[in-house]
Formats: sequence, C-alpha cells, structure tokens
Amino acid sequence: MNAITNVEPLVRARNVHKSFDHLEVLKGIDLDVAPGEVVVILGPSGSGKSTFLRCINHLESINKGSIEVDGEQIGYRLNKDRLESLSANGIAKQRRKIGMVFQQFNLYPHMTVLQNIIEAPVGIHGRSRKDAIGDAKRLLERVGLSDKINSYPRQLSGGQQQRVAIARALAIKPKLMLFDEPTSALDPELVGEVLATMKDLASQGLTMIVVTHEIGFAREAADRVVFMDGGVVVEQGKPEDVIGNPQHPRTQAFLSRFI
Ligand SMILES: Nc1ncnc2c1ncn2[C@@H]1O[C@H](COP(=O)(O)OP(=O)(O)OP(=O)(O)O)[C@@H](O)[C@H]1O
Ligand SMILES: [Mg+2]
Repeated sequence: MNAITNVEPLVRARNVHKSFDHLEVLKGIDLDVAPGEVVVILGPSGSGKSTFLRCINHLESINKGSIEVDGEQIGYRLNKDRLESLSANGIAKQRRKIGMVFQQFNLYPHMTVLQNIIEAPVGIHGRSRKDAIGDAKRLLERVGLSDKINSYPRQLSGGQQQRVAIARALAIKPKLMLFDEPTSALDPELVGEVLATMKDLASQGLTMIVVTHEIGFAREAADRVVFMDGGVVVEQGKPEDVIGNPQHPRTQAFLSRFI
C-alpha cells in the first residue's frame, strides 16, 4: 500500500466515453493509477463500473478518449497521426499485462487447479511447463491452497475457487490486476478468505483496481477510493475521506446504505 505520487501512472484514463447503442454508460472518465496503488471503485448498480474495467483490458472498445496501461494505448495504435485498431494479436499482447478476476470464477471444470493455472502461461505465453508449474506452486502457496493442486474446481468451495481464479490471473505475471466484485457470488462466510488474499496482494505492492461493495475492504486496503455514479467519477480520495466524510450528496446517499 504505497501511494506513490510524481511517478508515471501505470493506468491513465482520459475522457473515456462508452455507449451501448443509444445508452451512454461512461460519460468522460478520468483516472490515473500509480504503480503499486490500490484503487477501489464504489458506486451504485448500473453506474458503469464493470464497463469501465472491461474497457481497461479492451473487452469493450471505447467511443472517445483514451486508456493507457504501462505507457501503451489500449486497443489502438498511432499510424501517421491516425489511431487505428490493434490486431487481435496486438490486443492479446497488451492483455498479458492485465489480470482480471470476475464475480464468476470461470475456472475450467475439466481441468485440475494446476492445469487451470498453467494453461495461459504454457498454452498462450509459451512458458516452459516446468517453470509454469514452479510458479503455480508458489502462487498456490500465496493464496493458501497448496494442498488443492490436483483437485478439480467442483471439489472446492466457492472461496477456494475464487482464490484459484486469483492465482490463475497472477500466473501471467500481470502489472495490473482488475477485480470485478470478486466476492459478490460467495456465501457470506467465504467472503473473508478471498478479501484476506486480496489484502495480502495489496500489501505486496501489486497495482489493483477493485470494484466491490465491501466497504471494510475499501477502508482497510485501498490507497484511494473512487465513487462512480451515472458514468462519471463523482468523488475520489483517501478512504477515510471518501467513506468517512463524503462530500458529494450522491456519495453520501450511496454510503448511507452501508451504515
Ligand atoms: N453489453 C452491453 N450491452 C448493452 N448494455 C450494456 C452492456 N453492458 C452493460 N450495459 C449497460 O450499461 C450500464 C452499466 O452497466 P455496468 O455493468 O457497467 O454497471 P455496474 O456499475 O457494473 O453495475 P453493477 O453494480 O450492477 O455490477 C447498465 O445500464 C447496463 O445495462
Ligand atoms: Mg458490475
């Protein structure tokens, strides 16, 4: 948790607009995320949080503005002063820097935990099996699941599956991790173990953008809290300010539900 200032941001989003047909969902999002920073995005349902995360790794294209990750514009490249869409290959390369964890764990059901974790590094990134297995073992230790290496997803609890999903996302050695409500599909008693894993990662200096309704996590693990509503950033700042003393009426109204 080291909010570093005066360094090049790892993520630089500028005036990001996104529409689905006639519905404008993102209406000019500006957001910088410094290396090592943990940013939690809060906001009501439908405010565009998932859409914004999906734009960061180009699961959605944007209509206006720009998103840079690690100095590269996501999804596009400059060709003689004109922006053109990157090839599928170019996009895949950019995505190697970005890990994503969703509400639904989406593990491959027919693969063991180990196979799930090494699938991308070996199958897509061309790493040697031996190296990938070594990394997978270290990652499983990190998420507290060394004993489940040969289990199948159906043999695991929801919390364990989500921790495997986190290990799988980390296996590509991303510079940035995106989490979209990673605990929302879990039984309440399983939420804590996943949040503990995420807090661990946060304290180890991983750059993270986390969409969650877990206000406690935001308070404890975030360097910065961003409140989104209606497709814009309404308010942002330190957790103790935004959560403890929100300035904007929309932030106040949203947070009052959690008290
Ligand atoms: N693929 C899509 N096609 C059309 N509309 C979409 C699509 N994806 C999202 N939307 C719309 O965009 C708006 C924002 O959705 P988004 O999923 O980003 O919200 P959210 O803030 O993540 O909400 P929640 O807290 O419920 O997850 C919603 O009105 C949604 O219906
Ligand atoms: Mg969402």
